[in-house]
Amino acid sequence: MAKKDRKARSVELLNAAVADELAAVHQYMFFHFHLDDQGLGPLAMLFKQTAIGEMRHVEALAERILFLGGEVEMVASAEVQKLHDAEEIVKCAAGMEDGAVEMYNQSARECSENNDAGSKEIFEALIGDEEGHFDQFDTVIDNIRRFGPNYLALQTMGSAEPGAGSAGA
Ligand SMILES: [Fe+2]
Ligand SMILES: [Fe+2]
Repeated sequence: MAKKDRKARSVELLNAAVADELAAVHQYMFFHFHLDDQGLGPLAMLFKQTAIGEMRHVEALAERILFLGGEVEMVASAEVQKLHDAEEIVKCAAGMEDGAVEMYNQSARECSENNDAGSKEIFEALIGDEEGHFDQFDTVIDNIRRFGPNYLALQTMGSAEPGAGSAGA
């Protein structure tokens, strides 16, 4: 493959990642609004923080696209899924993270084969972050399994009380 074509392919892969990250930003903010509305503060906050992380991913990808002389296609890869149930939400998010890890591994490999180590490194950094995101959602799924879905509401009650958790205060 000619150098020009290799660059173009990297831009394509990076833009596919931008589209996925934008979809995640939209989806996680949607989840944030609804979980917050349901009074599930800590979980709502987890989604907000994660959405901000995904936005930073868009930025890292965009910088690389511009460096390669491409244009950033700011189009989300998917419509927002209108889920409201906390357990369904967390399972959906874990699935999205799992899918991202799979996709970025393939992209990293292809960039490496095309002698684009710079883009490969970005994908590898993202893989680390997405695995971290997967882990945090998986922990919530685990806790729901162990303590039941009500644990999410109880977690909220604790955090809503000023000074909660400080023994003997
Ligand atoms: Fe991401
Ligand atoms: Fe993520």
